[in-house]
Amino acid sequence: MTTLTVEGADLTDPQTFLAPADELAKMWRRFRTESPIHWHEVHDHAVPGFWVLSRYQDVLDVYRDKTHFTSERGNVLATLLEGGDSAAGRMLAVTDGPRHRELRNVMLKAFAPRVLDPVVAGVYERADRLVRLAVARGECDFAQDVAEHIPMATVADLLGVPASDRDYLLTLTKEALSTEEADSSADEALVARNELLFYFADLAADRRAAPRDDVVSVLATSTVNGEPLTDQEIIFNCYSIIIGGDETSRLSMICGMHELIAHPQQWQRLISGDVTVESAVEEVLRWVSPAMHFGRRALKDVEVAGRLVRAGDVVTLWNSSANYDEDVFADPTTFDLGRTPNKHVAFGYGPHFCPGAFLGRAEIAALLTALRTHVAEAVPTGPAKPIHSNFLHGYSSLPVALKAAR
Ligand code: HEM
Repeated sequence: MTTLTVEGADLTDPQTFLAPADELAKMWRRFRTESPIHWHEVHDHAVPGFWVLSRYQDVLDVYRDKTHFTSERGNVLATLLEGGDSAAGRMLAVTDGPRHRELRNVMLKAFAPRVLDPVVAGVYERADRLVRLAVARGECDFAQDVAEHIPMATVADLLGVPASDRDYLLTLTKEALSTEEADSSADEALVARNELLFYFADLAADRRAAPRDDVVSVLATSTVNGEPLTDQEIIFNCYSIIIGGDETSRLSMICGMHELIAHPQQWQRLISGDVTVESAVEEVLRWVSPAMHFGRRALKDVEVAGRLVRAGDVVTLWNSSANYDEDVFADPTTFDLGRTPNKHVAFGYGPHFCPGAFLGRAEIAALLTALRTHVAEAVPTGPAKPIHSNFLHGYSSLPVALKAAR
């Protein structure tokens, strides 16, 4: 395996992120120490290259700086390199300014405790049942038999998607992000995205006619300055909840299990109560950093980490490096479920901070609680299959044998 150098690493290539974890950790350390703001060239794209920010403080500074940076021309490499996002100005994650604030306030109503409490209760019930079933069977693919069934059902509860449509939505979500197979085509992803949009157009029409206590109803019936949201805003934001809420949480759970298996002493600390589930959740999030990067375009010339970033430049913020910055995290390459403080940026920071953070944390907490209660030991029965992405990190398959707790 060749060494991943700062100059040699292609951060646009999903293959790069298939390197062993310790190689990637070394690569990010090189970025932080040798070139903390690094110009990464690309060819055959709408832009000539992008800046790579790898230090915690620089990542934080750009996340919170809405004066000099915008998400409206994309917020991940895939769209930033193509020059924009077709949902800009309508979908929360790629909207800025007053419209972002207004849309976010509507969305936050949908994440109110009144709406979330029953959803979280469902998460705990589901995680407990799935883990018990897996233990009873003895062997399972933890990704496909357990983790896959929690976030999608949770997001579907939140949105008010009927149970009969959930498998269909899961398939579309995976295709839309096309991360599982190296050879997934861009056309398939586009078709899946369009199907998702049509699906939510229909559901929004139903809920406008007969509102219920769910997110689609909140979006379909809310007004901003007396005006209802447009159909496109409703549809794009349902889509963004599905895309934002399903895969990140699923990968966090799968990687959480993977790391517990790799660190049996930490698992014992969790079982014995030496560490709380809450602090374990934060360490899983820091360690996994399921969304490896986000990004922005500069609106004006601005100095970042001592270099001039010009108006129009693409800047990428690498959570997967910031969360291992030794200036902020003591002994960052040690998986320590009791780590405190643990101010990771797995959910971003600033105006676009993840509105699903409470729910994402609840899902991981529910899983760890179920594992702590029902599983004494887990051993791999085959290789974990990593996903293929320059944006998300995790596994699509994790075969394990589970031994029941006494
Ligand atoms: C472990 C799970 C999760 C992780 C690691 C995660 C990560 C993130 C990050 C880093 C951002 C900031 C993006 C940016 O600054 O451009 C974000 C935004 C967002 N997330 Fe999450 N997320 C998770 C779960 C969820 C869930 C469960 C939902 C919904 C149910 C959700 C919905 C969203 C939405 C709508 C945004 C856009 C917010 C805005 O632009 O104002 N996420 N997420």
